Amino acid sequence: MKISNVNKTFGTKQVLFNVSLDFPAAQTTVIVGPSGSGKSTILRSLNLLEVPESGRYDFDDLHLDFAKKISNRQKLALRKKTGMVFQNYNLFPNKTVLGNLIEGPTQVLKQSRAAALKTANELLAKVGLAQYGGANPQELSGGQAQRVAIARALAMNPEYILLDEPTSALDPELELEVLKVLLQLAREKQSMVIVTHNMIFARRVADKIVFLENGHVLFDGAPQRFFAPNNPNERIRNFIASMTMENLN
Ligand SMILES: Nc1ncnc2c1ncn2[C@@H]1O[C@H](COP(=O)(O)OP(=O)(O)OP(=O)(O)O)[C@@H](O)[C@H]1O
Ligand SMILES: [Mg+2]
Repeated sequence: MKISNVNKTFGTKQVLFNVSLDFPAAQTTVIVGPSGSGKSTILRSLNLLEVPESGRYDFDDLHLDFAKKISNRQKLALRKKTGMVFQNYNLFPNKTVLGNLIEGPTQVLKQSRAAALKTANELLAKVGLAQYGGANPQELSGGQAQRVAIARALAMNPEYILLDEPTSALDPELELEVLKVLLQLAREKQSMVIVTHNMIFARRVADKIVFLENGHVLFDGAPQRFFAPNNPNERIRNFIASMTMENLN
């Protein structure tokens, strides 16, 4: 999956400038950067929740030119390949946990209810919630709800899952439950793109780090290089230092 020369403007404000990025399959790409730098806009563009005004998007045999109209068929094909997980879970409140997990597979993928339930139960076990199929979303902690949202994304069997600050609404212990699940998925070579402010997690999980500032890619490479104390980019060194509070005396 890759984007090339992407530009995005909201009103009169340009928020992405000629962004080109590769998101390798079977790897975890982590996008970091200050608030307002364009991280969510990139992630949402990968799912076509936003459509940039120019640039290319290549994903397997799909080749989109953002300057041209994107057909519904292309949009659907792309959304099947990408599962989105949001900060606030966005579970269907009036469905049980299992109901949330089988909705897409039965309605969109036309799976039988029995097949969808089988997969759903396997996925719940995988995220440590095997006993929660009958629960309502309101009964779940934030960490549990987010793990259900991850299972729901996986139930659609997308090629990539895209996660936008999946743990920023959670307290640290609940966050850890979610991060463990994501680390496990990364070990299983699930293709992922994760936006996070958690630098400790980024360092652990990333195969590749992207640093954005003001809509420009300032770094695109290996976490070892990104987090190296001798990273030649002073702005990045300062960003890491503030995010890890290493200069808090
Ligand atoms: N729908 C929108 N309409 C107008 N401006 C928008 C819209 N969405 C985003 N923006 C602006 O685009 C810029 C990039 O926003 P984006 O949400 O991508 O940043 P971000 O890096 O995800 O920030 P954060 O870390 O706070 O989530 C910001 O200046 C934001 O105010
Ligand atoms: Mg954001």
